[in-house]
Amino acid sequence: MKAIILLGAPGAGKGTAAERIRDAAGFMHVSTGDMLREAVKQSTILGGEAEGYMHRGELVPDKIIMRLVEGVLKDAPSHSEFMFDGFPRTIGQADLLDEVLAKRGTKLEHVIFLDAPQRVLMQRLTGRRICRACGANFHINNLPPRQPGICDRCGGELYQRPDDSEATIASRLQVYSQMTEGLIARYTQRGVLRRVDSSCGADQLAAEVLSVLKAAGAAD
Ligand code: AP5
Repeated sequence: MKAIILLGAPGAGKGTAAERIRDAAGFMHVSTGDMLREAVKQSTILGGEAEGYMHRGELVPDKIIMRLVEGVLKDAPSHSEFMFDGFPRTIGQADLLDEVLAKRGTKLEHVIFLDAPQRVLMQRLTGRRICRACGANFHINNLPPRQPGICDRCGGELYQRPDDSEATIASRLQVYSQMTEGLIARYTQRGVLRRVDSSCGADQLAAEVLSVLKAAGAAD
């Protein structure tokens, strides 16, 4: 069994690439951001604990994140292959991930580092729109819906994530450079990091990630 991680700054395109890669490569997509937003929407206890951190653009404490991730891994069929998106984000989360993967006999094969300049990140995040009903992801310029404000997939209403305001984006980018960038060195040392320039278009990026995974034998 294997697992890969999509690592990168807010707006690097992790979620967009994951949607395109998931089916082609047969991974179970584990996005801690999506799980947290769902917990907030459902007004669960965990969602209530996480909401304030998310609104401020801070990281949700490791113990809450690990409760979420351990729950998913525990319930997943034993043959599952995982694609983590936005997780891990701290050294503590990375240590705990190593432990839970070792317990399942799952190997962390690749960490795909999606790298894009800050101006691209800012432009992507401020223009992102999400469907309230099905969660589909759009961008007002890069991936516009056919009808403004309406989801192409299900006709649902599109909204802007509350943490996609310029002030909160600035704090998320700062938190990324302080807390998460250190993971690049960890996974480089381990020989599993693959850097991909993510400033290209969404389809091209997904194709590049898939070709990196295929070349390394992780998407056969
Ligand atoms: P999370 O949801 O994980 O947000 P993030 O990491 O800040 O990343 P984003 O979802 O903003 O960006 P993305 O790289 O997925 O970009 P996307 O593909 O959407 O986390 C949110 C919050 O939850 C965190 O701030 C934190 O509070 C908490 N949290 C989550 N996980 C945590 C953890 N492990 N530990 C602690 N706290 C945690 O693309 C963005 C836009 O650009 C879209 O509009 C898209 O259409 C467009 N776009 C994407 N790719 C391309 C492309 N290649 N070309 C053109 N346009 C593109």
